[in-house]
Parts: sequence; structure tokens; C-alpha cells
Amino acid sequence: MARVLIAFASREGHTELIAHHVARKLEDRRHMVRLINLTAGEGEAGADEYDAAIIAGSIHRGNFAGELTSFLMRHGPAVRSHASAFLPVSLTAASHDPHEVAALNEIAQRFLFEAGWQPDFVEHVAGAVYDRQLNLIERTVLHSIMRQHDEEPDQSGTTVLTDWARLDEFVGEFAAKL
Ligand SMILES: Cc1cc2nc3c(=O)[nH]c(=O)nc-3n(C[C@H](O)[C@H](O)[C@H](O)COP(=O)(O)O)c2cc1C
Repeated sequence: MARVLIAFASREGHTELIAHHVARKLEDRRHMVRLINLTAGEGEAGADEYDAAIIAGSIHRGNFAGELTSFLMRHGPAVRSHASAFLPVSLTAASHDPHEVAALNEIAQRFLFEAGWQPDFVEHVAGAVYDRQLNLIERTVLHSIMRQHDEEPDQSGTTVLTDWARLDEFVGEFAAKL
């Protein structure tokens, strides 16, 4: 049994869902998981006392939330010394266009370079669009991006692009390192 820290930053709440999903799957494998919601400013006491770390964060306008950078500044030494994974969450992760995929990889690699962190896994996860959480301009832009990728926004107002089965595979690969 390993102690796994999952720290995440989430603006519209989808990375939070992903973090909780990963936590449940690790707990199913009898690992002990602690979740820290960085966006909510949750306490970090004892955050260095674990065996492995997963850091998840969504991309907005080409950037990750500043809370992720701050967390890595405070806890980088512990994160770097254990098994670790980075889960960038974005719409582009659902794209098959090689140029978009390359641009997405560059955003993630730049973030990791600046944080001085080389995780064992970088698992890009396709996110979701929650219409109600967006203003008109954001909604229009994101719907048009989805249509460019042949994804029709769902009438319900929630379009989830996450490949949950692939995420479960990732959990299996990560758990194999623990
Ligand atoms: C204002 C805004 C900007 C976004 N910018 C990007 C972007 O630059 N690249 C991308 O791939 N996805 C982008 N997205 C999509 C988000 O990464 C996606 O909706 C993700 O699921 C959000 O996760 P969260 O709910 O945890 O914040 C953007 C979404 C919004 C609302």
C-alpha cells in the first residue's frame, strides 16, 4: 500500500472530477490517497509525507493555473524524489491534429521545464465544456473549437471529451510503479 498525493487546480471543475476519479481507482487498488484542491486553497500540511504524487491542472488560454507553479515551488523537492505524474487537462488533448498535439506538448514541457520537474508520466487528458460556467464569448469560442475537431457541443450544455477508459489504464500504469 502506497500513500499517494493528488494535488489539482481546476477552474470549471472538470479536473476536480478527474482527480477524484483517479483517487477512487487508486483506492480500489488499496492505496491511500490524499487530495488537495489547490484552487480552493486547501491546506498543505504534511503534503511532503507520501510515496508518490499526481499533479493535475487544466489549461486556459495556453497556460496552467498559477497555483500549480506555486505548489511545485513549495513541494518540488518531495515531488521530484518520488514516483510522480503530471495530468494536463485540455480540449486539445482530444485532437488528432499533429500540429495541435505538438503545441500542447510544448505547453506542458515548458511548464515542466520551468518547474524543474521530470515526472515519470505525462498523461494528457481531454477535458469538458460546461456551458453554464462560461460567459458568452468563452462559450462561443469553445463551441467553435469543438466543431473544428468534429465534436458537436452537447444539447445538455455539458460536453465531456474525457476518455475515462484510457484514464483507468493510466492509473494501472502508475500503480504498477508504486
Ligand atoms: C476560457 C477558457 C480557455 C481555455 N483555453 C484552452 C486552451 O488554451 N487550450 C486547450 O486545449 N483548452 C482550453 N480550454 C479548455 C479547458 O482546458 C477545458 O475546458 C478543461 O476541461 C477545463 O478544466 P477545469 O474545469 O478543471 O478548469 C479553455 C477553456 C476555457 C473556459
